[in-house]
Amino acid sequence: MLKLAVLVSGGGTNLQAVMDAIDNGTITNARIEVVISNNKDAYALTRAAEKGIENVCISPKDFADREAFNQAFLSKLNSCGVDLVVLAGFLVLIPPEMIAAYRYRIINIHPSLIPSFCGKGYYGLKVHEGALERGVKITGATVHFVDEGTDTGPILLQKAVAVEDDDTPEILQRRVMEEAEWKILPEAIGLIADGRVEIENGKVRIRRSGI
Ligand code: GRF
Repeated sequence: MLKLAVLVSGGGTNLQAVMDAIDNGTITNARIEVVISNNKDAYALTRAAEKGIENVCISPKDFADREAFNQAFLSKLNSCGVDLVVLAGFLVLIPPEMIAAYRYRIINIHPSLIPSFCGKGYYGLKVHEGALERGVKITGATVHFVDEGTDTGPILLQKAVAVEDDDTPEILQRRVMEEAEWKILPEAIGLIADGRVEIENGKVRIRRSGI
């Protein structure tokens, strides 16, 4: 059974999608050990509490400096015996020591088709504003492993979503979540939990059933 830590900062709809997938048997070999937020008001914490999942806030505001905060975060993950860290709308930069300690065991969901509209400055609505400004006809979401760069790690899954003429950033954000993020994040966790994911020369290879 793969033990997950889900890291959140906000509403937690991606966390909800993962919890639902575990409940309805789409994900069979994983369970959420802990949900950690950097923001005490994140509704994601309430979602976890309602499911009886351990939920904690570790905020940079409660520590003397970033180093102390990073240490506390890593200690918490280590003490929970976590196998996979899932960044589900987590808005804090992951420190290099955590990336090294959890090499290829941290995944992130990004609301575009990487390498478009990703990297520094592309988070939240800014991703969708960028897509609309450029006038792309297709966008989507990407689940990728986290490495030392911003959105540069090996790509695990992507799903395309159509852009409509009258989209606002908010409308597009919602469509990308509904049609892509809430599907590929649970799917990626299921594939990892089932031992179907390998990384070869910096690229992900997925062993599908029956192959
Ligand atoms: C999602 O759009 C995700 O891709 C982005 O932040 C948002 C999180 O939403 N990184 P939620 O907290 O899961 O509802």
